[in-house]
Amino acid sequence: MRNLTPASITQAFADYARNAPSPRARTLLTSLAGHLHSFVRENKVTQEEWNAAIDALTRATRFTDDKRNEYILFSDLLGVSSLVDMVNAAGSGTPSSVLGPFHIEGAPELPNGGDLWRGQVGEPLVVSGRVVDENGTPATGTVLALWQNAGNGLYAQQDSEQAATNYHARLTVADDGSFAFSTVRPVSYKVPDDGPAGDMLRILGRDAWRPAHLHMIVKAPGRPPLITEFFPEDDEHLDGDAVFGVRSGLVLPFTRLTDRAALPAHLAARDTLPMPVWSARLDLKLAPL
Ligand code: BEZ
Ligand code: FE
Repeated sequence: MRNLTPASITQAFADYARNAPSPRARTLLTSLAGHLHSFVRENKVTQEEWNAAIDALTRATRFTDDKRNEYILFSDLLGVSSLVDMVNAAGSGTPSSVLGPFHIEGAPELPNGGDLWRGQVGEPLVVSGRVVDENGTPATGTVLALWQNAGNGLYAQQDSEQAATNYHARLTVADDGSFAFSTVRPVSYKVPDDGPAGDMLRILGRDAWRPAHLHMIVKAPGRPPLITEFFPEDDEHLDGDAVFGVRSGLVLPFTRLTDRAALPAHLAARDTLPMPVWSARLDLKLAPL
């Protein structure tokens, strides 16, 4: 195509892609190019501005390895990860949320009632709940993948002082769908902001805080996994989550329990947890298939 103009280049891109073997890939890439073209036209992006964007992506490679991915962080901070989650959400049941970068496949098994806290720094928290399907029937055989940061605000992957799978676990719910475990109360923390994604936050006058949260993947037999996370309702960063992961159905009261007798009977640390202890109830409902 010759004599291209700002007005005609988007159609030219679509024409060039007419032989794409995958119609879906053609649709996505043509749409992406079209939106980028509109962005350049509408904002009359300068050469310096576009160079700065390319430079940020180039620098992102230097901040990306097997422990950290600056491109995923850009996606998270731009709200794209959250938007992909929301447009694919089930529409009923416990809401989904973003995965984040700290999930470990094959974390150690924790018996139902087990203790992840083991006296470590921070305030202990007892989590108990039940997983049911759309009819209220216990979701027997469900495995919960759990992970969170430690009382110092760091995930195990960020902290050489912690064991590699500290605060990462897999727990199988009881036949009635119930589960309980003790852990540390997660704390709010800043996403890594020393790279180009952090520069973007500073340019926007935003901060890097995520409200405290407890991640979970709910794997019920025969159903797609539900990736989600839960937030204490008293966290000061709920309305400014850097990665847009908060959903109102995932914000829960964390209360103080003073009566040891009120703790779940099968809790391994029932007799040793210092009282009062934080307590949260997580009742999970699966979406219809
Ligand atoms: C997190 O949930 O821990 C997280 C999510 C997105 C970016 C960084 C951290
Ligand atoms: Fe997280």
